[in-house]
Amino acid sequence: MNKKTLSDVDVAWLRGRTVVVRADLNVPFESGQISDDQRICASIPTLVALSDAGARIVLLSHLGRPKGRPDPEFSLAPVGRRLSELLERPVSFIPHADGRRAAGPVSNVPDGVIALLENTRFLEGETANDEALAESWAALGELYVNDAFGAAHRAHASTTGLARAMVARGGEAVAGLLMAKELRYLEEILRMPERPFIAIVGGAKISSKIGVISSLLPRVDRLLIGGAMANTFFRALGLDTGASLVEEDSIEIARQLIEEGGERLVLPIDCVVASEVTETSPVRIVDRKAVSGDDKILDIGPASRARFSDMIRRSRSIVWNGPMGVFEVDAFAQGTIEIALAVAEACDGGAMGVLGGGDSAAAAERAGVVDRLSHVSTGGGASLELLAGERLPGVDALTNQG
Ligand code: 3PG
Repeated sequence: MNKKTLSDVDVAWLRGRTVVVRADLNVPFESGQISDDQRICASIPTLVALSDAGARIVLLSHLGRPKGRPDPEFSLAPVGRRLSELLERPVSFIPHADGRRAAGPVSNVPDGVIALLENTRFLEGETANDEALAESWAALGELYVNDAFGAAHRAHASTTGLARAMVARGGEAVAGLLMAKELRYLEEILRMPERPFIAIVGGAKISSKIGVISSLLPRVDRLLIGGAMANTFFRALGLDTGASLVEEDSIEIARQLIEEGGERLVLPIDCVVASEVTETSPVRIVDRKAVSGDDKILDIGPASRARFSDMIRRSRSIVWNGPMGVFEVDAFAQGTIEIALAVAEACDGGAMGVLGGGDSAAAAERAGVVDRLSHVSTGGGASLELLAGERLPGVDALTNQG
């Protein structure tokens, strides 16, 4: 990466300076409680490094998709409380998102206490990348640290706008430690993968992953397809998919990818089918040519798992994005779990295994293999765009090295 990072900033310079940090604290909630705090945990190294260096921290993040106005359901207040528990340091929640309104309360926050502003998306100017809003945040500090890899594919006021505003004021905009780590793994595996290089792409919709598949297909030795998107490929092969989810509009694209990929594109050969997506629905294992009637394909079958796992274990570089089936339901989780275990085994043997965020991260967690993988990305959309060969505006706006 040719961008400056927090590691390039002189630690002695940081003492007493105010640093504006953009993190991605967009965590899921269930019944009003944070159900997965991985993104908060991942933000901690940068905050600790800055705080240990004696910097004052003003922290920004979005949460959910409120419509440009305050909405209590998306307040960052509970995130601030969890952050404080995990950091074992005080966090002062400022109930304003706009830098102008937050300036007074921020100046009253004692040294050593992180000031967390309210959800940036409570303001219309955030997603509109409003210059005045970006300037209001830049004016709060002397350095901007973008650690929000998960939001790096968004050109918003708190990502690209703030970076530019800080540079225009004579300051610098650098990548935080998490951002730098994410870019290091994802860029390295694309740039010089040790071979065999394998990609595993799953999930429901081929339409949301065409960019990734098209970009990875010419680079990898094998690209394994699983999840409901495999059904669209089956249809492109002329197979019956019964009552399974199929994207009719993408059948032609699937046909082209099969032709272009040749033996590099590997599809499941058998499937777990049921008529309902429930724990109690009777399941059958069938060859992919034997799906019919009200069968719904809900996981890859045992022969496919064995074939995929064998290829994965023999690989030296692995990129994985998307589950192999409806892994939230135990009856259809086995394919995803076996793939997660195979990736972990390959990593145990020295392979580099990188997982895209979202569902794959949850699947790795469920399989209990997170600690055995080289890197689990905190970015869903951002990692997909990077793997698809696209530029990330949040990264582009940072200060260049040298
Ligand atoms: C994510 O969850 O992928 C990021 O936080 C970005 O959120 P967004 O898709 O609402 O911009």
